[in-house]
Amino acid sequence: MSTYIYVVVLTVSALGGSTVASELLRRPTNVRLTSHNMNLVLRWDPPEGTAGGLVYTAMYKSSVPGYRIGCWNTSSLECDLTPLTISHFGNYTGRVRAQLGEESSNWAESNHVTLDTDTFIGSPTVSLSSNGATLEVSIQDPVFSISTLRNVYNRVTYNITYWKKGQNETATSIPDKQQNRLVLSDLDPRTKYCVQVQINTDRNRNPSQPSSITCESTANEQETPWVAAMVAFVIMAVAVALLVVAVVYWKSIYHFLCPKDALPPHLEKSLLEHRNSNMYLPMESPVEEIYHPIRIIAGDRTVEEGYALEAAGSSCSQHPDVIVEER
Ligand SMILES: *[C@@H]1O[C@H](CO)[C@@H](O)[C@H](O)[C@H]1NC(C)=O
Ligand SMILES: *[C@@H]1O[C@H](CO)[C@@H](O)[C@H](O)[C@H]1NC(C)=O
Repeated sequence: MSTYIYVVVLTVSALGGSTVASELLRRPTNVRLTSHNMNLVLRWDPPEGTAGGLVYTAMYKSSVPGYRIGCWNTSSLECDLTPLTISHFGNYTGRVRAQLGEESSNWAESNHVTLDTDTFIGSPTVSLSSNGATLEVSIQDPVFSISTLRNVYNRVTYNITYWKKGQNETATSIPDKQQNRLVLSDLDPRTKYCVQVQINTDRNRNPSQPSSITCESTANEQETPWVAAMVAFVIMAVAVALLVVAVVYWKSIYHFLCPKDALPPHLEKSLLEHRNSNMYLPMESPVEEIYHPIRIIAGDRTVEEGYALEAAGSSCSQHPDVIVEER
């Protein structure tokens, strides 16, 4: 019998390293390995009926065989294994023992955790903005300790639930939404709505924690401040552009409307000479008039026919009205 106990003590001692395993020192209790947002933390409670002064050593095992050290001689009741995790998809187990001086307890093992399927996905962050009688919902994924939600899961969908504030029983759910932005448009104007969002993934056992409830009022139906502002801006821009063009090119515009060009001297002279001739007398009876179109070319501008010249001249009154006749 005593030989048997001796062998047991030797074996445990060999397993536990330099310290002597003691049945007097009990194991930590309630050892649990948990994961929130892809972290990995081993937690435990102190052994029953022990005083203070205990320290703990925590180890972990992944798919790779053999335990590795997580935390040495810690007085804390938890050990953060996140920095030591190798794979998003790994399967982990932890164990912990208590130590008091040279004495140490047996190991107490934890549950298994497969990170991607077991991690508790935290709540998304939801923000709302109203635009007329619609609400735009923007969803931010929870931040993961390692990697990101969309890197870990191939398929991420949002279950968006909304209701008129105070009328939870009339809630509408939009499940399986893949975009993290959407517009709720079947809403009443000037009404407060509340929105809550939950994340579902392809491999995790549970949906995420639901987001906190966010509420926002819709505005008036007609009210579209964004569109109104855009239209006002465009009108202003066009007006300013026209004003600038008018100022910069004023000279050219003025010259276009009021040409300075004189008639060719010989033509003017001939006109003056014939001022008193009978061609200017009022005509008693309709006489057939023979006109040839003449063309006056000045710079980059062409005035065709007497009629056009006359029209242009009348608005500036610098030129006498001109009628050119060739017989
Ligand atoms: C942990 O504590 C034991 C016993 O006090 C000691 O022998 C060992 O060296 C310590 N280990 C570390 C890493 O501090
Ligand atoms: C979406 O959320 C609502 C409210 O929380 C719930 O009743 C419904 O079952 C969920 N649907 C899915 C597909 O998760």
